Amino acid sequence: MRITEHPILPLSRGRRVTFSFEGRTLEGYEGEPIAAALHAAGVQVLHYSPVLHRPRGFFCANGRCSSCFMVVNGRANVRACVEPLVLGMTVQVQHGRQRLGGAPG
Ligand code: FES
Repeated sequence: MRITEHPILPLSRGRRVTFSFEGRTLEGYEGEPIAAALHAAGVQVLHYSPVLHRPRGFFCANGRCSSCFMVVNGRANVRACVEPLVLGMTVQVQHGRQRLGGAPG
């Protein structure tokens, strides 16, 4: 399930690191997109839509939509498909709309 190639974006793959997802400790490769690490771990739901609360996952996979908005280190609206994974990150599913660049609320 690991994404190793992308038709548009270069994918980086550094050392193996751990990060927190919804209270669980997962592993991925430093520099790969957060969504790629989650996908490799079997996580497909990254976000819930604002109105109907439908589950969202990868859609464009190149930073052009809002399907992969997540809360990363307390910051909402992070596009997980293009945000590089860093050791010790805290990643949470985002529910609906959040204030731009702010904390979930
Ligand atoms: S899936 Fe579209 S911005 Fe990430």
